[in-house]
Amino acid sequence: MTGQKGKFITLEGIEGAGKSTVLEALQAHLSASGIPFLCTREPGGTPAAEQIRELVLHGIEEELAPDAELLLIFAARAQHLRQQILPALARGEWVLCDRFTDATYAYQGGGRGLPVERIAQLEQFVQGALRPDRTLLLDLDVSRGLARARDRGTSDRFEREARAFHERVRTCYLGRARAEPARYTIIDAGQTVAQVRRDALAAIASLEPRLTA
Ligand code: TMP
Repeated sequence: MTGQKGKFITLEGIEGAGKSTVLEALQAHLSASGIPFLCTREPGGTPAAEQIRELVLHGIEEELAPDAELLLIFAARAQHLRQQILPALARGEWVLCDRFTDATYAYQGGGRGLPVERIAQLEQFVQGALRPDRTLLLDLDVSRGLARARDRGTSDRFEREARAFHERVRTCYLGRARAEPARYTIIDAGQTVAQVRRDALAAIASLEPRLTA
């Protein structure tokens, strides 16, 4: 299914962990290195998937059932994969994605309490064998993350969840990262911005093509 030639890098973390700053640093680095890339996000990344994002993040008057939320997120992902991610990887571009399926395990699994097996089935159905080559987890204390997110002003359905929800999200992310250390790099997002950027660049260095003598 994948025909993958480029590298697939995802960024994860609780609200306010600082993903945008790291994405900027990674984009600047790839541009300077002459590596072609696509920078995108989930849920979203195509017009249809962005409409689903709007529904999932901001809702409508009717309460969204957790199962419906899960299916909408995977519907957006299926569209995003076929329209954007898989073609880019097949062309040899790197893909930098602001959140991916680890977020579904963390938010819909950890946060909402949906069964992990159900998420794993959908992951297999929608993605086949495709998994990120590297996942950078920006780890931060929940109080600090929520305070930073609040400072941004607007709030979505997830940001309005109770602190305990975000603690479960963080715990789930950390559990997944520790279970799969070859794919994940945990970055302490409480460090200075300069140090977080350095750690992020170090985390992708081993994926880059080496010049042979
Ligand atoms: P953000 O990209 O601005 O952080 O917002 C995306 C929100 O969507 C964030 O609160 C996490 C949530 N989300 C899920 O709940 N499940 C998912 O699978 C993804 C990709 C995001």
